[in-house]
Amino acid sequence: MTEIKKFSPEDLKDNPVIAQMGQYNHEQLLFCNDNETGLKAIIAVHNTVLGPALGGTRMWKYNNEMEALNDVLRLSRGMTYKNSISGLNLGGGKAVIIGDSKTQKSEAFFRRYGRFIDSLNGIYITAEDVGTSTQDMVWVHEETNHVCGLPGKSGDPSPITALGVYVGMKACAKLQFGNDSLNGKKVAVQGAGHVGQYLMKHLHEEGAQIFVTDIDQAALKNAADSFGAKVVGVDEIYDVDMDIYAPCALGATVNDNTLSRLKCSIIAGSANNQLADENVHGKEVLEKGIIYAPDFAINAGGVINVYAEVKELSAEWALDKARNIYDTVYQIIKRSADEKIPSYAIANKIAEERIAAGEKAEV
Ligand SMILES: NC(=O)c1ccc[n+]([C@@H]2O[C@H](COP(=O)([O-])OP(=O)(O)OC[C@H]3O[C@@H](n4cnc5c(N)ncnc54)[C@H](O)[C@@H]3O)[C@@H](O)[C@H]2O)c1
Repeated sequence: MTEIKKFSPEDLKDNPVIAQMGQYNHEQLLFCNDNETGLKAIIAVHNTVLGPALGGTRMWKYNNEMEALNDVLRLSRGMTYKNSISGLNLGGGKAVIIGDSKTQKSEAFFRRYGRFIDSLNGIYITAEDVGTSTQDMVWVHEETNHVCGLPGKSGDPSPITALGVYVGMKACAKLQFGNDSLNGKKVAVQGAGHVGQYLMKHLHEEGAQIFVTDIDQAALKNAADSFGAKVVGVDEIYDVDMDIYAPCALGATVNDNTLSRLKCSIIAGSANNQLADENVHGKEVLEKGIIYAPDFAINAGGVINVYAEVKELSAEWALDKARNIYDTVYQIIKRSADEKIPSYAIANKIAEERIAAGEKAEV
């Protein structure tokens, strides 16, 4: 993402909050406090050029307020790029609740939080994220309509996220191998969780040879039994003789330690923040001739699903839009290859161009 302005530690000392907002060009921050329930939250609206700022609420035991502030600024900005590259009429936002998700939750707590969201009049729309659940969103919904991911609505986003990853992987195959068939291709899937299982189903149906790792033995057994996946160790996954590496568990797995070991020519998976350092590893991946599908473009199925809920669009619309991730990824990686610029940087550029033009997608 384009660096907008750098502040020295000296600037941040005097004006830590406004200076940080300026650094990433955030529009608005709402600090929320309620002594009665113990609620302490920060809602960040990064950019609303394309539409209301959508992004989930994370509940986390931050060590201090600056840590929470840094996280919400970084995450809300990330949502602007994800929503833009996905062609959605949405801006980027995010919220963090500073607290313990195991001990501090109650109906009163989330209803109070819901009233804070409502006070923003729809500029920010929330959903669940790490540390918050569907039940929490039901409580939020008692106080505001600006919440999604509710029960009986768009439902589990994992199948649609997996579909997007699958078609995005095929787009990478088209550019790397000359056609988009994954038949016979060796794919190493890291993480047999919600997304991983659905992804392996698609891969198995297409005749790919699957290698899988996880720390959950039941998930591995299911992958082996249902998709003929070969189970490998948690660290062994990086050394597998593979065509495609599909990180679907953790972030930062493309790093100084793994990059020299990965034998793949494509990296395409659902995990967020796959490159440990975008500037370093994005460039190295390109130099090694590996096609990397930028995570925020290929894993956008989940936000597409939520968008369909917000706009009351059909499940078919969401599936079509997720299938379109094929074209989005292809456009990014082709431009990356032609211009010899890392794919994450191209994806950022395309997202920024759409925001700059203030374009609206067709729905
Ligand atoms: N679910 C979605 O729709 C969605 C959307 C966008 C991005 N993502 C991202 O995709 C990733 C997977 O999401 P999910 O919903 O399937 O999560 P999940 O928790 O269901 O699955 C993650 C799996 O990774 C495994 N795992 C944990 N540590 C591991 C390790 N060291 N090595 C191997 N496996 C390990 C877990 O046991 C689990 O089975 C996450 O990074 C998530 O943020 C998910």
